[in-house]
Amino acid sequence: MKLVLGADHGGFDLKENIKEYLKEQGIEFTDYGTLTGERCDYPDIAKKVAEAVADGTFDRGILVCGIGIGIAANKVHGIRAALCHDCFSAEYCRRHNDANILTMGGRVIGPGLAREIVRIFLSTGFDGGRHAVRVAKIAEMDK
Ligand code: RB5
Repeated sequence: MKLVLGADHGGFDLKENIKEYLKEQGIEFTDYGTLTGERCDYPDIAKKVAEAVADGTFDRGILVCGIGIGIAANKVHGIRAALCHDCFSAEYCRRHNDANILTMGGRVIGPGLAREIVRIFLSTGFDGGRHAVRVAKIAEMDK
């Protein structure tokens, strides 16, 4: 799986922690920044990450900002960004929504829970079936 990460200053520390986790697990990733903790605008990072997932450069993305809402990423056609601050949401955004970007708030959750959410998000498949019909309806709205 090709994975891309991004964060603004509000999510920088958590993104760096997630990178350590991914390295420990032997999971490859690309980091689209920010590469420092300096103040920056989250829509710029979200756009880069979301467009790279939407065009197939990457299979999944992880975006971390202060609250993690994912509002900018979901403006990009083909993106289903899901805010997950619990394990149940991480599992079902994959199984039911085929979420392709995970968003989290670095000012909301700690690294232990975030790592577990990442693990679930990356290892859970889409159930398809009736859920595929619903996801197709989202794509229709996206046109
Ligand atoms: C930055 O202060 C903060 O507004 C940003 O990280 C994010 O929470 C926006 O969604």
